[in-house]
Amino acid sequence: MSTTETAIASAEAHSAHNYHPLPVVVATADGAWMTDVEGRRYLDLLAGYSALNFGHGNRRLIDAAKAQLERVTLTSRAFHHDRFADFCTELAALCGMETVLPMNTGAEAVETAVKTARKWGYRVKGVPDGMAKIIVASDNFHGRTTTIVSFSTDPEARADFGPYTPGFEIVPYGDLTAMREAMTENTVAVLIEPVQGEAGVLVPPAGYLPGVRELTRERNVLFIADEIQSGLGRTGKTFALDHEGVVPDMYVLGKALGGGVVPVSAVVSSADVLGVFRPGEHGSTFGGNPLACAVALEVIAMLRTGEYQQRAAELGDHLHRELGLLTGGGAVEAVRGRGLWAGVDVAPALGTGREISEKLMEQGVLVKDTHGSTIRIAPPLVISKEDLDWGLDRLRAVLSA
Ligand SMILES: Cc1ncc(COP(=O)(O)O)c(C=O)c1O
Repeated sequence: MSTTETAIASAEAHSAHNYHPLPVVVATADGAWMTDVEGRRYLDLLAGYSALNFGHGNRRLIDAAKAQLERVTLTSRAFHHDRFADFCTELAALCGMETVLPMNTGAEAVETAVKTARKWGYRVKGVPDGMAKIIVASDNFHGRTTTIVSFSTDPEARADFGPYTPGFEIVPYGDLTAMREAMTENTVAVLIEPVQGEAGVLVPPAGYLPGVRELTRERNVLFIADEIQSGLGRTGKTFALDHEGVVPDMYVLGKALGGGVVPVSAVVSSADVLGVFRPGEHGSTFGGNPLACAVALEVIAMLRTGEYQQRAAELGDHLHRELGLLTGGGAVEAVRGRGLWAGVDVAPALGTGREISEKLMEQGVLVKDTHGSTIRIAPPLVISKEDLDWGLDRLRAVLSA
């Protein structure tokens, strides 16, 4: 057996089969490139589902992590530490908000947003105890906890994990009328992704997001934007909502906030909303730890230059122009997306998304399929135009083979 086959067989023997990875075993990575255990190089067009917006081994982020590793890595929130205040201040400023509640993974941040909205509903809005409702969208992806899968519409994510957490109302994504009709005096929040990533990079109809903002404001309902995948530069702006000039009541952030180095997530909102928490009511041992704060502070500093957003916008225009040329030829049925982020619906006759991904892997390009024959393209924002073009050439070769 090859080194790759041995590594995969060993992983399969001793790990739960909750993922179906492509048969590549990565050993090292740099920028937009990964190298496997046999020395083959691959262009990374997934970027850890946008956790690697700044590329693999980004020097600034690695240096920030190394420096912090030598100082202090974990205190727990039982004590203050000297990176925490800066992290909260800087992240709040990046979001144009006041208050930060740090967690680790995306799902934990979404759970935090759900708990915040419910508590706000009872304490501030005056919803009767146990009656709070949160409106979510069909085809959402917000994570994998029991509460979050309770309001998933994906049978794979949901089946056999009940009993499900009540208190969620699902309406079609992009349908403002349905959202308006679902709203009652007990609605405390609307939780949506401004671009639905896992669903296939779905951008809602123009006017939908401003409409949600207006409706939630009118009805005293919190607008929670899950920007875990869409935020922090991916779409060509700091937040996907920026494209529509919309500011939510709460951002939920993760993935790229940890710079591809450590898991860092957060809920960012106003002092009024996050002010509902009292000591002991919510928390996490690792949330807001010194190493996480040091890396995230560097991420925030990098985003404040605007340089990465601009790269994503410029290279994104190029990516969508090139992908657009593939539609009409029969191989590609549709292309969606924003910035350096695209969902490409390949004609089912050419194979499943998985099969296309495997063929691309053989050509030295790593992508991930999602539902049916859709592949998702989301390179690190630091990718060069030449490398992106090289990857697009491989895609064209696979689609025309
Ligand atoms: C929009 C969105 N929300 C939440 C999550 C969950 O994040 P995590 O996997 O870090 O729990 C994801 C992950 O893909 C996501 O895309």
